[in-house]
Amino acid sequence: MKLKQWFKMAGLLLVTLLFSIVLTACGSATRGGVFAENTLQKGDLIGISMPTKADQRWNMDGGNLVKALEAQGFKTKLAYANNSPSQQSTDINNLVAAGAKAIVVASVDGTAVGPAVKQASDNGAIVIAYDRLIMNTEAVDYYVTFDLERTGILEAQTIINRLGLENGGGKETPYNIALFAGSDDDNNAPYFFKGAWDLLQPYFESGQLVDPSGIVTKDFTVEDWKKISVHAWDQSQAQKQMDAFMVKLGNQPLAAVLSPYDAISLGAMKSIKNARPDMSPNNPFDASNPSNKSAWPIITGQDGMDIAITNIYYGAQEQTVFKNIALLSEQTTALIVDIADGKTPQSEETPMNNGKKDVPTWLMPSDELVKNPTGEQKDLYYVVETGFISEEQYQKNIKAPIID
Ligand code: BGC
Repeated sequence: MKLKQWFKMAGLLLVTLLFSIVLTACGSATRGGVFAENTLQKGDLIGISMPTKADQRWNMDGGNLVKALEAQGFKTKLAYANNSPSQQSTDINNLVAAGAKAIVVASVDGTAVGPAVKQASDNGAIVIAYDRLIMNTEAVDYYVTFDLERTGILEAQTIINRLGLENGGGKETPYNIALFAGSDDDNNAPYFFKGAWDLLQPYFESGQLVDPSGIVTKDFTVEDWKKISVHAWDQSQAQKQMDAFMVKLGNQPLAAVLSPYDAISLGAMKSIKNARPDMSPNNPFDASNPSNKSAWPIITGQDGMDIAITNIYYGAQEQTVFKNIALLSEQTTALIVDIADGKTPQSEETPMNNGKKDVPTWLMPSDELVKNPTGEQKDLYYVVETGFISEEQYQKNIKAPIID
């Protein structure tokens, strides 16, 4: 081999070697192609974008994520979007500009947030949808949430049990029920409703349940859920919708309210209290005396909010579906740690489709809290046992006035 040829060959080998070093360094934790600079590593900044501070659970979610991620050596930056989709897009852009190598997003509007996460992803950031799926974009890598349909199943089953529907309750005179679904821009909402509607629809079919507003009939389907949705999960909006329902109800009895969220339940209660002062939580619906017009309905909820603990304790609300959100932040952190270790997280669960792709999904279990638990239900005090709230807060809750 001539000296010139030898140099050429050695140069080629060097280039190949350097190229494979770059490839290895980028590894599976790199986003945005071989030459992307952002590689998620321990100690990196993780951006957290939460929907609103005004809601007890998202405050805790944000705090939990910061704690869990920092305990693993990551830096964090937490933003709250005041329930505004455009604010959330700005927040995400700012987090990426601040150097976030991964962003954890509980979206205000699952579709509107698409372009912002696409930009984050194009910048090499890992995108994790937290609790709420981000819709219609390829730019979401992982999804961590709770078993969504289970929320509706637990709520509907409690209504069925308390109304004695399996024993023919409502056969003679149909029972009146009001039904609510969650926010129209939240992909979780139809899943919650599906869980409930699959169980309640047969009782509309048999005529045991009736919606006096006429919106929900036996022919209602899960796809119709937006007709009963409450935009932004807003309590006063729920109250307005319940006001309209109460006009239709007139002075008939009301057996139940299907509510997918504690603040919606509260809005409904306020409306009932105004429209029908004869109804009182001291006089709860009793399947042995269903024609009692003054009976207080069986009302469901979700999240284990302080106000729900109070209302359940005093009998104004029947149950709440409690999500131990610490599980969600632990799972999210575990994914981020794995990615930083160069692993690609694998889920055993069925991925959820966001309209553009099957997103690898992790589902956490939820529990039902009631005052007097039977079977798998949990006592109200479970919120303290799981560290969701302090003993002191719990004591405050059970001393607070109801439906204030
Ligand atoms: C969450 C619920 C919550 C609701 C309102 C949903 O996306 O999954 O836990 O009650 O939003 O904040």
